[in-house]
Amino acid sequence: MRILGIETSCDETGLAVFDGQSGLLAHNTYSQEIHQKYGGVVPELASRDHIRKLIPLVEECLAASNSSPEDIDGIAYTHGPGLIGALLAGASVARSLAYAWDVPAIGVHHMEGHLLAPMLDPNPPSYPFLALLVSGGHTMLVEVKGLGDYRRLGESVDDAAGEAFDKVAKMLGLGYPGGPALAKLALKGTPGRFTFPRPMTNQPGLDFSFSGLKTFALNTINGLELTDQDKADVSYAFEEAAIDTLLIKCQRALKACNLNRLVVAGGVSANLRLREQLQLMSQKQGLEVFFPPMAFCTDNGAMIAYTGYQYLAQGMKDNLDIQAKARLPFA
Ligand code: KG4
Ligand code: ZN
Repeated sequence: MRILGIETSCDETGLAVFDGQSGLLAHNTYSQEIHQKYGGVVPELASRDHIRKLIPLVEECLAASNSSPEDIDGIAYTHGPGLIGALLAGASVARSLAYAWDVPAIGVHHMEGHLLAPMLDPNPPSYPFLALLVSGGHTMLVEVKGLGDYRRLGESVDDAAGEAFDKVAKMLGLGYPGGPALAKLALKGTPGRFTFPRPMTNQPGLDFSFSGLKTFALNTINGLELTDQDKADVSYAFEEAAIDTLLIKCQRALKACNLNRLVVAGGVSANLRLREQLQLMSQKQGLEVFFPPMAFCTDNGAMIAYTGYQYLAQGMKDNLDIQAKARLPFA
């Protein structure tokens, strides 16, 4: 069974073809640059850019996977959560192509796509595992017993981790999206110059809060001249505190669920400090740690094609409605 996957929940147009036998055949992602000058995603511009790019990218992806429309057995698309106009662009194209090609279509939850992205690695995790989902919109700990068997253990009560990275990066004038830029600058930071708090780690529970950490960064920045070294030092302290906080909660959740296997996914799973610290934890504690391949940490079509395949292969499919929901609960 060969599935075309379409992701358009925010500012990335992601396409992929996944084959049940041969695996991932092709994928391409177009990252919209139009938002950079506004310092954040402008929803209406995102929808328009998706509309412009979707059909050419579908054609490109089919060609790259050596597939013609007759080879496609189903279409998977992100049906939420996300920007409603952006979701509708992808959902309309997906649903229409499925109708024209007379194949089933299925809506995929964006966070389930992220959750299963590590399955695209040559060395995928087996069930059960603990998942830390860290993106620009979500920060969540989920106990995963099998496909579709998810229990949410905790989540951010305010900003998502990626959102906090982006907002602190913006305070430092690092552009948008600033998370990767902040992480890069942190490499030049001076360890120990600033110590930022690890929010909600002194109390029990598995929820997160990143808004206070962001305010702490702002107050620190306001007291500085903000030389290049100051920027690097603030980046270092912020990243260190944010990653530490994630790790403390992971340890706690692993213990609570009696699990020894951790999967980290979502945009922030591309963060090198997070990956290094987890490798260290894995060496010290014999913990098994899994990440998506780098290309599938941030939004992409491959995770949607893979997830859709899992359900379509079981005979599941949606009706002919175009499904798109800005808010869609998960687990
Ligand atoms: O999963 P994703 O592409 O989109 C959402 O579903 O939100 O995640 C994007 C987020 C952004 O906030 C971005 O700054 C963050 O992931 N991100 C990073 C890194 N790469 C991407 N944050 C920290 N370090 C990185 N290397
Ligand atoms: Zn995402």
